[in-house]
Amino acid sequence: MKKSLGAITLAFPLPAFLVGSYDSEGRPNIMTAAWGGIASSDPPCISVSIRPARLTHEAILKNKAFTVSIPNSSLAVATDFAGIVSGKNTDKFAKAGLTPVKSELVNAPYVGECPVVLECELYKTLDLGAHTLMVGKIIDVKAEEGLEGEGSSLDMAKVDPILFNSGGDYHKVGAPVGKAFSIGKELK
Ligand SMILES: Cc1cc2nc3c(=O)[nH]c(=O)nc-3n(C[C@H](O)[C@H](O)[C@H](O)COP(=O)(O)O)c2cc1C
Repeated sequence: MKKSLGAITLAFPLPAFLVGSYDSEGRPNIMTAAWGGIASSDPPCISVSIRPARLTHEAILKNKAFTVSIPNSSLAVATDFAGIVSGKNTDKFAKAGLTPVKSELVNAPYVGECPVVLECELYKTLDLGAHTLMVGKIIDVKAEEGLEGEGSSLDMAKVDPILFNSGGDYHKVGAPVGKAFSIGKELK
């Protein structure tokens, strides 16, 4: 028996992305975003939903670019910090001990300590109400060496991304349950 929870923003799993951009003075900034994910395969796109009040919102619209750095669980404190303090009055990179790396491909910085980063050009925006859906065309993905997986480009357990539970806490990746595009074949 299910009970209605109402029209709430609940989905599992949510990522904890660090969205990188330059402010109007060219200072690097990051903000945590959980409302995002891959949006298209051709062109390869990722979306993040950002409230207009965020510094990141105006920065992305101005520079027409952003990065998505995927932190691992050792960066959980810094990731939470980037989601509770605005770059309007704090140098979050410096305060969190993170390194802003200038992308050679798009006009946005990424987080040097993150194992995986996506460099994106702003492709489309959609005003949805409280949030603006920012769709980035993925120009390149960079990953630390040694994270390769068997049959997949990267091993998720080795990347060790932070999973955000909208209920309020951060989790690590759990055990695999089976091979994708494969285990379902037994029901064909
Ligand atoms: C786990 C987590 C997830 C968040 N996800 C989003 C999000 O998807 N969109 C958004 O607009 N704000 C989100 N926030 C809030 C922003 O990260 C926060 O307001 C941040 O201070 C904005 O930084 P900025 O003003 O430097 O851009 C999230 C915060 C946390 C802690």
